[in-house]
Amino acid sequence: MLPMNSGGYSNGYSHHPTTEKPHRQRRGGRRPRDGRDGGAGGGGWARASEPERRPCTDFDKAYFQSYSHVGIHEEMIKDRVRTETYKAAITQHQNSIAGKVVVDVGCGTGILSIFCAQVGAKRVYAVDASEIAIQASAVVKANNLSDTVIVLHGRVEDVEIDEGVDVIISEWMGYMLLYESMLESVITARDRWLKPGGLILPSSATLYMAPVTHTDRYRDSIDFWRNVYGIDMSAMLALAKQCAFEEPSVETISGENVLTWPHVVKQVDCYAVTIDELKSVATRYRFKSMMRAPLHGFAFWFDVEFNGPAIFPTSTDSPSLFIGSSSNNPVDGSQRKKRSNPNEALVLSTAPEDPPTHWQQTLIYLYEPVDLEQDQLIEGSVTLSQSKENPRFMNIRLEYAAGGRAFVKESVMR
Ligand SMILES: C[S@@+](CC[C@H](N)C(=O)[O-])C[C@H]1O[C@@H](n2cnc3c(N)ncnc32)[C@H](O)[C@@H]1O
Repeated sequence: MLPMNSGGYSNGYSHHPTTEKPHRQRRGGRRPRDGRDGGAGGGGWARASEPERRPCTDFDKAYFQSYSHVGIHEEMIKDRVRTETYKAAITQHQNSIAGKVVVDVGCGTGILSIFCAQVGAKRVYAVDASEIAIQASAVVKANNLSDTVIVLHGRVEDVEIDEGVDVIISEWMGYMLLYESMLESVITARDRWLKPGGLILPSSATLYMAPVTHTDRYRDSIDFWRNVYGIDMSAMLALAKQCAFEEPSVETISGENVLTWPHVVKQVDCYAVTIDELKSVATRYRFKSMMRAPLHGFAFWFDVEFNGPAIFPTSTDSPSLFIGSSSNNPVDGSQRKKRSNPNEALVLSTAPEDPPTHWQQTLIYLYEPVDLEQDQLIEGSVTLSQSKENPRFMNIRLEYAAGGRAFVKESVMR
């Protein structure tokens, strides 16, 4: 397995010893092998028209393969913020789950499926294309839940479930929310099986960005070369900048690194979002620095909410849930840090000021810092698009202008 930014296929998790924190990585699949994927349930469920399903490519197989390693599941399950928020959401929505049919999109070890069974789900289809499904099956059996939890070893795009489902649960979020493109599989499951009025957990997601200052990081990776044991190694600077900052960096920053309130890059309503909508996401931003500091780059993070379908509005009117956070908001006091939460929905946040998660934050560093004055404007645009080479990779185009100078940075998250 290769850590992210190493040039190989990975979304980050590494079980090799490394000086960096382990990143999360994703992996690939096989055809179902437990014989339960062909018409399980037997309820005669059929959509008027089946959604188009993406073929399983070699990239997908490598992706599913990466999920067969125990380390990535251990890392995710040990992320208590993540796992306990999902458990709390399942408990909070117990009334919608008890006695109902659930699909767990990408069940991994089966943990979320088992949480659903524990609150009384009638049947849970636990689907995973990775070999980890074999372990999920064994875990389900060992917990005497085989009558309730049906493990389907295959892609959500390929397995058959012959009944409508009441609930879809999935932990699909990648770095910068959209990396890995797993949300597409949740959409496919929704369009194949979810009954009208059914529940999707999480129900919505929001990707944020903000300018950051990070002098320590710049000093450690770049300024270090100016004086190495008394030797002027400044000749290394260009290469050091290239190597350190060419690709997005997954790392933990604190609220103190963040120079302004964040900007909403993309808000996703899981009940309404389409696969096409996710192929390319673009937004214009405008920040006003709250302090005098060098701008070293931009941080991205996300949160997800666990609302019911009746509470969350359609994608066309969802911005009304936000306070001053829509894409083109002017910079003034209305730029707020977080969405309003009138329904007191559970929120899983990966923001710098919140308890850390294994997603950390994703940083796009500038090759050259820009010295900002207090109240200085930073404006530009960001476009996140699926790579044509491999849709699970993400191309990032960042345009920024500050102090009369304009720049463009393009990078790939692979
Ligand atoms: C982030 S892990 C979550 C695992 C588990 N639900 C948990 O919370 O610990 C995502 C899982 O989804 C699986 N997966 C991703 N896309 C899938 C697809 N299209 N069909 C089936 N499984 C998929 C991966 O193999 C991986 O095991």
